[in-house]
Amino acid sequence: MHAQRTGSDGTSVLFVCLGNICRSPLAEGVFRHLVTLRGLEARFHIDSAGTGAWHVGEPPDTRSVAVAADHGIDLAGTARQVTAEDLTRFDFIVAMDRDNLDALIELAEDVDGTGRIELMRAFDPEPTGEDVPDPYYGGPGGFERVYQMIRRACEGLLDELNPR
Ligand code: 4NP
Repeated sequence: MHAQRTGSDGTSVLFVCLGNICRSPLAEGVFRHLVTLRGLEARFHIDSAGTGAWHVGEPPDTRSVAVAADHGIDLAGTARQVTAEDLTRFDFIVAMDRDNLDALIELAEDVDGTGRIELMRAFDPEPTGEDVPDPYYGGPGGFERVYQMIRRACEGLLDELNPR
C-alpha cells in the first residue's frame, strides 16, 4: 500500500495502536464506514498499524470484529507494524493512546517532515480521558465502550477534514 501525502487529490489517515488487532483496525473500519456513508471514498486513503510487532500478519481480534458487526461494520486487514516511512507518507497519524503517541514521536526522530501526529481522543467531542484504553485483557463490554469512543472521535476527525 503506497499512500501519498497529498494536498489536491485526497487525504491519507493512519490509525495506530499497540497490536494493530483491537483498536486501530476498529478505527480504520469505523472511519472507512463514515467516509463511505458520506460518499467520500475517492478522497481518502485509510490504513492502520501497530507500534508493536507481536501480532504482525494476524487478522483483527474476534472481539473487535464482533463489536463492529453489531454496528453493521465489516473489519478487514492484516496487522502490520508502523514504520518511520509511514510518518512521512500519511497526512494524519492518529494514536489511540499516550503510549502509542510517545512511540510515534520517538520514531519521528528518524525522519524529516512527518504528517500530523495526533491523539485519537483529541477529535472526541465528549473526551472523558485522553486515551482510547487498551481492551485486550478486558471483557466484551470494554470493546463496546472503545467502539463508542472511536465512533465519536472518527466523526469528529471526519468533520474536521471534511466539514458538513
Ligand atoms: P490493540 O490491543 O493495541 O488495540 O491492538 C492489544 C493487542 C495485543 C496486545 C496488547 C494490546 N498484546 O499485548 O498482545
